[in-house]
Amino acid sequence: MIHSTYAEVFNQQFVQDPFPTYAALRTEAPVHRITLPDGRGLWMITRFEDVKAALKDPRFIKNWRKVLTPEEQKLMPVMPPVVQLLFKHLLAIDPPDHTRIRGMVHKAFTPQLVEQLRPRIQQIADELLDAMLAGPRSTDLLTAYAFPLPLTVIAELLGIPLDQREKFRYWSGLVVTVDPAPDRFTRMAGEMEEFGNYLRELFAIKRANPTNDLTSALVQVEEAGDKLTEQEMFSLVFFLLIAGHETTVNLIGNGMLALLQHSEQLKLLRENPDMIRNTVEELLRFDSPVETSTLRWAREDVEFAGVTIPRGEQVLAVITSANRDPNYFVEPDQLDITRSEHNHIAFGHGIHYCLGAPLARLEGAIAINSLVQRLPNLRLAVPAQELIWRPGMLIRGMIELPVEF
Ligand code: HEM
Repeated sequence: MIHSTYAEVFNQQFVQDPFPTYAALRTEAPVHRITLPDGRGLWMITRFEDVKAALKDPRFIKNWRKVLTPEEQKLMPVMPPVVQLLFKHLLAIDPPDHTRIRGMVHKAFTPQLVEQLRPRIQQIADELLDAMLAGPRSTDLLTAYAFPLPLTVIAELLGIPLDQREKFRYWSGLVVTVDPAPDRFTRMAGEMEEFGNYLRELFAIKRANPTNDLTSALVQVEEAGDKLTEQEMFSLVFFLLIAGHETTVNLIGNGMLALLQHSEQLKLLRENPDMIRNTVEELLRFDSPVETSTLRWAREDVEFAGVTIPRGEQVLAVITSANRDPNYFVEPDQLDITRSEHNHIAFGHGIHYCLGAPLARLEGAIAINSLVQRLPNLRLAVPAQELIWRPGMLIRGMIELPVEF
């Protein structure tokens, strides 16, 4: 049976294993309305072709202020000033602002530039593995490896010292755990205040002593005047820091879980390390770390795939479901690292296509290959059914991944 309220759909059973629900939605209700706690509608789009079309459709926009009437806006969660400071990021804005700001940073993430990070990423992976091998032969793979690797990389790119690593993990966990409660932002305000102050101090340091990093470059752009406002700069650095690791952690985590559960595929990769590029693409498809797109709003009444999505309602393109659509992929529930079609949608589509895709691919490839090569006895320390998945939409990842080696 297909449910239609937020609480019914996003229950613990769904969080543990959303794939049966997605399969039912794709067949029976591919554009499905669920009712949020405040009565508004949220449309879940689950088929591959529809997900792709929705992500490219200019009628679904980010800025709800342009969509909702003043009366409807009163129902929106109130954002305290510090939260507002952080929420004008790339996934919260539309053209022309989006085009301008994306244009300022995309050059830092081209495949060519990212490739130059390869030796440093390999070094970080090696050091983390050395530390794991020097300690007890069982650990949480996320804390020991999958989390610190991308966090170190993005922090170094941004020029952020790592002494607050656990704080970052906490702050960004707050932000990516999507919670529909209307007082969500008010509850977060204290924590965000701390994050905002941290960034303020960082910008002051970079202003006084610019170094060779992205934050120093952005501070200079902001000082130059009309290109980047203070709010845009806070939002950009905050967002890059979070998007830069919350996602890749789960490429490594979900990916390793999939390989550990498919020993013949793991063996194939271990014996053929040059298959890693293909493997990463298949892992991105098989258990996509970004489960759903971020929210979009219908700018007008939108005729979409046979239904009418009313103006002012929200749309969620379900990436994890699209990547298992049997009308698009052959035997989608099979993990097959030799699969030749790589047109998954794990990095999104259209103008908000993931800026960090080349970096995520490189980090995933180095992290997984190094782990597979250096820990030949790696195995799960608990049955897979006992692993706990993180609540909320948006990110699909585990809370812990206990392993032995
Ligand atoms: C956007 C996935 C890693 C930066 C996106 C979107 C997806 C995605 C699906 C589009 C969301 C939407 O349209 O609502 C992933 C996955 C990653 C990953 C699966 C890892 C496996 C990274 C990394 C960075 C990054 C390492 C680092 C810089 C961004 C940015 C955007 C974005 C800045 C917004 C782009 C825009 O709005 O123009 N990502 N991402 N991502 N991602 Fe990633």
